[in-house]
Amino acid sequence: MALFSSATQRVPEVSAVPKHIAVIMDGNGRWARKRFLPRIAGHKRGVDTVRELVKQCVRLDVKFLTLFAFSSENWRRPAEEVSFLMSLFIDALEREVVKLHQNNIKLVMIGDRSRFDVKLVAQIEASESLTANNTGLILTIAANYGGRWDILQAVNKMQINQPELTGHYREENLLPYLSMNYAPEPDLFIRTGGEMRISNFLLWQLAYTELYFTDTLWPDFDEDAFNLAIESYGKRERRFGRTSEQLQKPKP
Ligand code: IPE
Ligand code: IPE
Ligand code: MG
Repeated sequence: MALFSSATQRVPEVSAVPKHIAVIMDGNGRWARKRFLPRIAGHKRGVDTVRELVKQCVRLDVKFLTLFAFSSENWRRPAEEVSFLMSLFIDALEREVVKLHQNNIKLVMIGDRSRFDVKLVAQIEASESLTANNTGLILTIAANYGGRWDILQAVNKMQINQPELTGHYREENLLPYLSMNYAPEPDLFIRTGGEMRISNFLLWQLAYTELYFTDTLWPDFDEDAFNLAIESYGKRERRFGRTSEQLQKPKP
């Protein structure tokens, strides 16, 4: 697979099943509120949905699954919710990483780790190194991630490493420094919870991604709901700037 591939530089190969799915897992709080439960109950249930979705992706032979778990703006939430989410990450990693490893899944975390406490950073590093050589699904968790942060950190690294190109940078100079440099751009983006926005997720990488929005709240996003998203993707015509006619196979 071509690393550093870019849909704006070269028309990518399109397969019936997406190779890379990126998801904004939204609606945990509303799911809980509907049941008169505290918001954190929704986050807890959300972890179960993640486990099931990982299974579905393995079944469909999706190679990359990228999940938005905590945005750089989510620090604005009440302190108790933020600290619950942080301990949920630690617990979930502790509990799930061995199972991921047994299933040949490679776990990668993207985002700015500088604001995490040492225990979480240690757990992230241990989970990544345990699964580093796995060759199955690549599961990326975006935590304290922001698309603007990603682009800026990449620009800064590029500038430091190649100052001689200042004023002449091209896409291929930047791509190696973006957080998701190991993955092709997402084919399918899914957002649950009914909002139709990107919320500072993978801004650069979503340039030509097919977008799918559903009102289903994240804890309710089950196999049937996922199949609907895959079905919708299957009906899309991915033109990448070309005309529909150009996509028709030439007649023999
Ligand atoms: C998504 O669910 C989970 C995180 C952002 C961590 P929300 O917590 O945003 O749920 P709603 O949108 O309030 O229902
Ligand atoms: C986006 O959800 C971030 C994650 C799912 C981690 P939010 O619920 O925080 O998004 P906004 O604030 O409604 O845009
Ligand atoms: Mg939300």
